[in-house]
Amino acid sequence: MSKVIGGLFSSHVPAIGNAIAKGLQQDPYWKPFFDGFDPVKEWVKQAKPDVVVVFYNDHGLNFFLDKMPTFAIGAAPEYANEDEGWGLPLFPTFQGHQDLSWHIIESVIADEFDPVTCQKMTVDHGLAMPLALAWPGVSEWPFKLVPININTVQHPLPSPKRCFDLGRAVGRALASWGGDERIMVCGTGGLSHQLDGERAGHLNPEYDRFCIDNLSRDPEALLNHSSLDIVELAGSQGVEILNWIGARGAMLGSVKELSSNYHIPISNTAAATVLLESCEMAEA
Ligand code: DHB
Ligand code: FE
Repeated sequence: MSKVIGGLFSSHVPAIGNAIAKGLQQDPYWKPFFDGFDPVKEWVKQAKPDVVVVFYNDHGLNFFLDKMPTFAIGAAPEYANEDEGWGLPLFPTFQGHQDLSWHIIESVIADEFDPVTCQKMTVDHGLAMPLALAWPGVSEWPFKLVPININTVQHPLPSPKRCFDLGRAVGRALASWGGDERIMVCGTGGLSHQLDGERAGHLNPEYDRFCIDNLSRDPEALLNHSSLDIVELAGSQGVEILNWIGARGAMLGSVKELSSNYHIPISNTAAATVLLESCEMAEA
């Protein structure tokens, strides 16, 4: 039987790609952030997920302001990493898990969600950065990928509850999958940051702490704010926490927090990394 073995939740700042390329992991600016991935690197080494299901937001690479799906699920044979304009070095192409993608799509549509299905899709820093931090330096990714895109970019945004419910529906799809894969979920983006407008540079450590503290034990506490409340609290890009909320929804059973790191700032972002393990894995 396949199993959701754990979840990685992490910010996805593009500048991380240049820091990796330049080997700045021990640099005083970067070290407090990279160190947060030490337990993650150790955990993926021993837990060996075969599949990673990533909830993230596209940043204008596949979907621009003229066409913006609320939810889009990849069902492609592979996903090349592309750079939407930061001048970033690229990571290896990800292999897809098409059968599992279609199983998830069929299952969430039966559950009355209406995702766009993407048989061709590229992936930007929003997907690649946390995976490159968890599996540094690989020439081939040792897992297959299912990407799930949530619109955190163009209003109107989905509600936190809708994203959590989508995650729950994905979790049910994973529970009914007939394979024997070890599945890790991942939610990327956040925490508080705002890149544009009069409030550019806005951060909110109090809201960030609230999210980190509740993620493992009471994720539904994060549903008490609307998406517009979150924009107000966490900034116009801080609303990327919707991806964390989706991924957390996909972890149906009880979870244990294995590690948590919070560091301000990385570029313009309050950067956080949280690793959760499914309790049945801890007991096995
Ligand atoms: C930054 C953060 C992001 O989430 C992003 O998508 C782009 C840039 C930043 O802090 O620079
Ligand atoms: Fe982003």
